Amino acid sequence: MTGSAPALRVAPSGASAELPAELDFWHPVLRSEELEERPARVRVAGVDLAVFRSEPRPRHGGGRVAAVLDRCPHRGASLSGGAVKDGCVVCPYHGWSWAADGRGRSPGNPEGSFRTVAFDALESDGAVWIKRAGTAVPFPRVDAAGFLEIARMRVRVRAPLELVLDNFIEVEHTGKVHYVLGYDTERMDEVICRTEVSAQAVRVYNQGPQKPMPWILRRLFRYPPNAHFVDDWTTTFAPVRSVYDQYWIDHTTGERAGDYLRNTVFFTPIEASLTELFVFLHAEATAWGRLGLNSLALKPITAWLGKLEVGADVKMIEGLADKSTEIRGNQLGRFDKGPLAARNRVRSIYRRGVAGLDAAREPVEE
Ligand code: FES
Ligand SMILES: [Fe+2]
Repeated sequence: MTGSAPALRVAPSGASAELPAELDFWHPVLRSEELEERPARVRVAGVDLAVFRSEPRPRHGGGRVAAVLDRCPHRGASLSGGAVKDGCVVCPYHGWSWAADGRGRSPGNPEGSFRTVAFDALESDGAVWIKRAGTAVPFPRVDAAGFLEIARMRVRVRAPLELVLDNFIEVEHTGKVHYVLGYDTERMDEVICRTEVSAQAVRVYNQGPQKPMPWILRRLFRYPPNAHFVDDWTTTFAPVRSVYDQYWIDHTTGERAGDYLRNTVFFTPIEASLTELFVFLHAEATAWGRLGLNSLALKPITAWLGKLEVGADVKMIEGLADKSTEIRGNQLGRFDKGPLAARNRVRSIYRRGVAGLDAAREPVEE
């Protein structure tokens, strides 16, 4: 799976046996507002798709989205460079059109029967999602009922999925890499880190003294000076995503104190060495909301902070001296149980022997 991977060919039946395993699962590929009346090209696991609105979106949501391979089965033009007409994507080369179900029509060969590979596509939670047609997998709904949406972000990282996930499921790096959310490196020994591994999920619970934060942010999140920061997340693997609950507690009483953030991050493999983070940032609508200040205070500052902290992760990951996905042979510490367990699941679910993947495939002992 590389940037120069050959385009997939399509049988006259519309079948393609070559789709990689990652496409079996729902992936968010665009923010809703990024898909307008023209088709868009997206890439997942080295496969280019043309995504389009087969039914226009009314002003307040609705409509339908569709996705087909971004290679016209006629003579290989990029369908995402075409237009949308009557619910179909129209090829910019010879004008054949392709419907959401993959059926094609050639104006010059009206009796002909043509097909391309169509994908399942839908719009939900402010995003456009795709997967291979017909796979029976649950939709990974973003669970943020009762929370205020802060931001939706797509961020690309020039590194393999495993290394991006490693970063997002351990907190030891927060001392050096992060500006405000996390723990001081010098007090990392005080951080409780509990890792629970099950067949479907890896959960990591971290609790320790909040690293110093500027006064203005402390006021924003409304936690007391001696608070402990809790970073409690669960990672599941079909598709790969983590749901982070981040909040503060008064560690003398154990009571919650301050705001509560709920972040959901999808880790989508674009190519072997390119990963996209699709981040849904949410916060509890608390005192700021009651004062009518969410859009003035909580929302823009938290969105800015989210971008800043994710950007710091991206910079560190892209600058790694070693971007191999092999973890064996590394000297690991007590915060590395999550990454180790996650590695095994990514390999068993995504890396099932797809041609071109450069990831190591041998299982790692937990
Ligand atoms: S290449 Fe698409 S219609 Fe000819
Ligand atoms: Fe981080």
